[in-house]
Amino acid sequence: MKLDGAEIRSIVRTPDGRGVRILDQRKLPWEVLWVELRSAADAARAIREMWTRGAPLIGVTGAYGLAMALAEDPSDASLAAAYAMLVETRPTAVNLRWALDEVRTAVAPLAPAARAGAAFVRAEAIADEDVALNHAIGVHGLDLLRHLSAANPGRPLNILTHCNPGWLATVAYGTATAPIYLAHDAGIDLHVWVDETRPRNQGALLTAFELANHGVPHTVIADNAGGLLMARGQVDAVIVGTDRVTANGDVCNKIGTYLKALAAHDCGVPFYVAMSYTTIDRGTPSGDVVPIEDRDGDELALLAGPAGDGAIGTVRVTASPAYNPAFDVTPARLVTGYLTEQGLLTEI
Ligand code: MRU
Repeated sequence: MKLDGAEIRSIVRTPDGRGVRILDQRKLPWEVLWVELRSAADAARAIREMWTRGAPLIGVTGAYGLAMALAEDPSDASLAAAYAMLVETRPTAVNLRWALDEVRTAVAPLAPAARAGAAFVRAEAIADEDVALNHAIGVHGLDLLRHLSAANPGRPLNILTHCNPGWLATVAYGTATAPIYLAHDAGIDLHVWVDETRPRNQGALLTAFELANHGVPHTVIADNAGGLLMARGQVDAVIVGTDRVTANGDVCNKIGTYLKALAAHDCGVPFYVAMSYTTIDRGTPSGDVVPIEDRDGDELALLAGPAGDGAIGTVRVTASPAYNPAFDVTPARLVTGYLTEQGLLTEI
């Protein structure tokens, strides 16, 4: 992916190899600020406070966090403590637990002196694989969008997406955005309806930033506008990412996704979920037992934006108690297809 003309990934090793650099996503799109994480505690804080976010990217950040813990202290006790601290930072995205398990499994049998190096190697491989998986999703999605575009000649193909399933949520390409980027680059005429995604506005702030940066035509809409647009025939397909797909195909994703799926179903609009195998949780039977993260009500009650002095300020929009569940569950019956690295699947 390119940012300001330079090829970038959303997480990279520091030049000394001992830490990682991430974009502070609380500051985007107003400021492009790279920050360094140099310990497992730094990684845990960055995930919990959403400096970095998105299911695949918090997995990769967690994997590096475990490697950083082992560089400080490679003992069994350190491995267990860092794993426990990182895994509890955000409960819904299964990628975090998956990536931590991958690193732990790789290093646990090794002598302590060999663990940190092996953990960094495994974390790096997870990051590299994420890029390849998302690109493969994009290639399969390009076929789908080419087909949909040909069925609707003479006008842009309208895609609606929710939250930020983009390169900022992954190491590169994104999941749901990978087909969009590849289709745009292939000359397919498309336009993206970007759900604002209250309360944290990942759509209006992050997806819009990505699409503008890549030159993809897009329009930000209020979260409640999607139903009207679908009923009017102004949406050809919905494509979202996901934080966890359970064994029966239920889809956990950013709060509001379920309402989009219901509207799409009612209006006959295809609803696609883009993800790789790293987001599938075959050990959990259905979405109703997935832990849904409750975040601070102030994320809903306070609107954030740049203040006059350049810092991020807030405005309180309600004096009442606010409840802020961060994810919801879309039942498998509402999903038209899963866009994966293996192709478009109707069941997982
Ligand atoms: O709370 P967030 O911003 O981490 O939520 C992210 C999402 O819900 C994304 O849709 C999901 O992780 C997509 S995966 C590229």
